[in-house]
Amino acid sequence: MSTIVVIAESSPFTGRLRQLTQQKVVGLRPTFTEHVLNSMLSTLREIDLVVISEEVDEEQVYELADIVLHHAPHVPIVLVRDHADALTQEWRAAGIREVLDSAGTDIDVERLLSRFIGGSVGGDAAVPASVPRPAVPEPPSSKSATSQLAAERLGIDRSGSKQPASGQPRVMVVLSPKGGVGKTTIATNLAVALGQKAPMQTVVVDYDAQFGDVASMLNVSAAHTIEEAFTERGVHPNLVLKGLLVTFEDNLLVMSGSDSPAAMEKVDSPQATQLIRQLSEEYPYVVVDTGSGLTDESLAALEVATDIIFVTTMDVSAVKALRRSIDLLDRLNLLPRHRYLLVNMADTGTGLTAEDIGAAMRMEVDAVIPRSTDVVLSVNVGKPLAAGRGSSPFLDAIDLLVSKVAGSAPRSKGGLFRRGSS
Ligand SMILES: Nc1ncnc2c1ncn2[C@@H]1O[C@H](COP(=O)(O)OP(=O)(O)OP(=O)(O)O)[C@@H](O)[C@H]1O
Ligand SMILES: [Mg+2]
Repeated sequence: MSTIVVIAESSPFTGRLRQLTQQKVVGLRPTFTEHVLNSMLSTLREIDLVVISEEVDEEQVYELADIVLHHAPHVPIVLVRDHADALTQEWRAAGIREVLDSAGTDIDVERLLSRFIGGSVGGDAAVPASVPRPAVPEPPSSKSATSQLAAERLGIDRSGSKQPASGQPRVMVVLSPKGGVGKTTIATNLAVALGQKAPMQTVVVDYDAQFGDVASMLNVSAAHTIEEAFTERGVHPNLVLKGLLVTFEDNLLVMSGSDSPAAMEKVDSPQATQLIRQLSEEYPYVVVDTGSGLTDESLAALEVATDIIFVTTMDVSAVKALRRSIDLLDRLNLLPRHRYLLVNMADTGTGLTAEDIGAAMRMEVDAVIPRSTDVVLSVNVGKPLAAGRGSSPFLDAIDLLVSKVAGSAPRSKGGLFRRGSS
């Protein structure tokens, strides 16, 4: 799969490209500061084509082309213009490879795509034909093209699957740019608590490709690990996926990470997205633990996530890194609608308060979890706190998340929830 970056404010062209190709289309706003665009270009390592839309003014076209050329000189730039004729000398000198009329037909656009990204514009059939329709929506189909275009004209973004309708499964991604802040501790406990509430309807996925330790925190030994979920170009059917899961306390399913840090190297982003999508067809609650940073797996999971749980500690560098990550995810249109912020390992006297952190993130802090030896002990002995009784600020935070997620989530396929933990 190729990545096409479209620089547009609200141009219908972005929506149109999404209709015409199954390649990944990432929209960036032209008003970004040079710094943000720079960092996005260096983060999106595999850009195959940059399209500058018709609404970007002439002067800015040159500035943007300059930035793109500086970071990714090999990447072709295509300019969309109203009433475009041929490439002018100036455009050519600025590094623009082709100009496309905004009123060009779909065939014109498809031809252009196949010229620059090669092969079929319809993607590389990463998904086996037998895979049933996903529960988490795929990118918009041609059926919804008109409404998508209308929405884009109004500046409304309906492009993503990040707007869960009621009854939609919940895919919750636990994320932090910093390591060791408690992501896995929170992801596993959240999954355990959801598993108790909706037995066998929750799966926790270890998407920390290098040092995943979900299975170890749950003290389960897995006969199969995550890389077995993937075929050479796609993902195995759901029936096969089920066979790869291990059960924790008869109510939670676990997709374990591999012991080998290289195991996920052959898996590309569309495959990683597809795995989460398929799991969400089978399980109303999918909890995804991620590695530190904005990894390929995290971004892939966010493509279909309904909820994101940000975790930070109380230090300036973690807070700043998280702020930058949130900004970047926002620009990439990868922020799900439901967002939570947990401050973990909170200490007093750090010079930062939860209010400061909330203000820096421009979002409310949902819970502050103090540093506690109970948490460390539970991790060290592989007995998640949520699996026991007792109460603590840590469990209050987990219960809060459960109530937010399960409060508006679908009832389990199997029927009634057994335990009300909120
Ligand atoms: N509230 C807390 N109080 C004390 N220790 C905690 C707390 N939360 C997590 N820890 C401890 O911090 C350590 C790191 O936690 P965890 O592995 O969950 O972080 P992580 O963000 O997943 O790390 P990585 O980025 O390496 O995957 C663990 O030893 C865990 O026991
Ligand atoms: Mg972890």
